[in-house]
Amino acid sequence: MRKALVAGNWKMNGSLAANRELLSALSGAIHGSDAVAVAVCPPAVYLPDVVSQLQGKPISVGGQDCSDETAGAFTGEIAADMLKELGCEYVIVGHSERRARQQEDSAWVARKFIAAQSAGLVPILCVGEQLDDREAGRTEAVVAEQLDAVLDAAGVAAFDRAVVAYEPVWAIGTGLTASPEQAAEVHAFIRARVAGRDPRVADGLRILYGGSVKADNAPGLFSLPDIDGGLIGGASLDADSFIGIVNAAAAVQAQGNV
Ligand code: 13P
Repeated sequence: MRKALVAGNWKMNGSLAANRELLSALSGAIHGSDAVAVAVCPPAVYLPDVVSQLQGKPISVGGQDCSDETAGAFTGEIAADMLKELGCEYVIVGHSERRARQQEDSAWVARKFIAAQSAGLVPILCVGEQLDDREAGRTEAVVAEQLDAVLDAAGVAAFDRAVVAYEPVWAIGTGLTASPEQAAEVHAFIRARVAGRDPRVADGLRILYGGSVKADNAPGLFSLPDIDGGLIGGASLDADSFIGIVNAAAAVQAQGNV
């Protein structure tokens, strides 16, 4: 059985005081389990403080992005090695907000994915279609292009040390969630696409769902066969909501469904 992962993407939110309050609530309620891994991805400036507060706790830390370069004249960018040195285990690459705002294309995301792994980080590769793609029946074509760019550049074996997050762009921060059928369909498509290159890698790959996941819709989503946890935005900023989502993943795992 794949170990589920519930990761909180704090995006550009938080403050030293608010983070401490949130982390102390999370540390008090999340005790670690063999079935569910938990991570938080704060803004990079807070990483040292967050890592130190989570020392010895069963909550990992991730970055929200990394450079595709290792060092040099890249103002404002953060190398994967730097995230690793600060204590990160994961880094999100290819989030739709960056694909849109920073015009990151799939080739660039693939280079970031490789840079992350070279630094010893586990990339969380985000893929997902826009609403007009879905309405035009292009969901699978868009997801395939985003996935294939990384499979081609990094090789399928690299997905032994990676996580994929399916985040339909129209469901992010909107309160709209993909229906269980819509999510299940795309998750199965992603796993089959990887299986086309290597069935063993596909079988072990964790594929998270992201997009308006809350404690009340998490159980339904997490019990779908190809959904191995979630990448949580808004609800990860609220301790009770995030804990509820982690508990939902644990409950589903206990039933042996994930
Ligand atoms: P929301 O959970 O706020 O919709 O955000 C999802 C997301 O983008 C996580 O990376």
